[in-house]
Amino acid sequence: MGRKKVTVIGAGNVGATAAHWAAIKELGDVVLMDIIEGMPQGKALDLMEAAPMEGFDANVIGTNGYEETKNSDVVIITSGIARKPGMSREDLLKINSDIVGSVVENVVKASPNCIIIIVSNPLDTMTYLALKASKFPKNRVIGQAGALDCSRLQSFIGMELNISIQDVKVMLLGGHGDDMVPMPRFSTINGIPLSEFLPKEKIDQLVERTKKAGGEIVALLKTGSAFYSPSLGAVIMAEAILKDQRRLIPSCVYLDGEYGLKDICFGVPTILGANGIEKIIELKLNAEEKAAFDKSAASVGKTIAEMKAMKGIK
Ligand code: LAC
Repeated sequence: MGRKKVTVIGAGNVGATAAHWAAIKELGDVVLMDIIEGMPQGKALDLMEAAPMEGFDANVIGTNGYEETKNSDVVIITSGIARKPGMSREDLLKINSDIVGSVVENVVKASPNCIIIIVSNPLDTMTYLALKASKFPKNRVIGQAGALDCSRLQSFIGMELNISIQDVKVMLLGGHGDDMVPMPRFSTINGIPLSEFLPKEKIDQLVERTKKAGGEIVALLKTGSAFYSPSLGAVIMAEAILKDQRRLIPSCVYLDGEYGLKDICFGVPTILGANGIEKIIELKLNAEEKAAFDKSAASVGKTIAEMKAMKGIK
């Protein structure tokens, strides 16, 4: 049995950093693909030349075609344009739909048995598009959002309390947009409810910061959006799949009646293992959480409907 193979499509900030995380974690051999000539090859070679210093055994190959991506186990799709200041993730809909749609068709031809992880925005809608374009079963097309959004809230709690982020656990539902649904009720410091450490007003502030955390980075960077954390979100999902870890990570998945939703890709807690989505965890929401969840679902549903009309998807 050879090594596992992870392909990353798009060698921009998110894609190249995903390749970096995947190689350093030795998830397998890594193929970095982009249409810009020389760029994926250059970044891949640079990573190979870094390997001896850290001691990771992973071949990293850069390419402009799909041939080298053949028979990948996991394909992380980061293609598309990123937000600039003042743009919402939805502003990327038209251009990224065209890009992601055609990328997925090529990915599927080269790797008919792979599991696809989507990072492109607007995330929930691009995941839905990838599922339809791939014709894969729903357990094999997964969007990265909850891993990142949880990690952001965890980091804010750790900073606020001056406590190791290793002991901060949080849960979060909903779409990857400003109306995502962080769940402080399920947040603990090593099992101790967060409410034992912080007053409600402070928790609400951290939740608000989390919802707008992507925009906070865009405003600082001015020329693009976050990349270290979104790419690592995708790579820990790939790791859970490739190592069959069965980790509980909130992910964007196709819902077929779960949480009362149908025909939508949306963020919910999932178990990730060798088959991709092994299980969707259904939580009982209180009235306030349900209202926020429904609001987020309505906004994701609207963007998916727009994309379907645009692409002629039934
Ligand atoms: C973010 C963008 C990448 O949340 O969606 O930073």
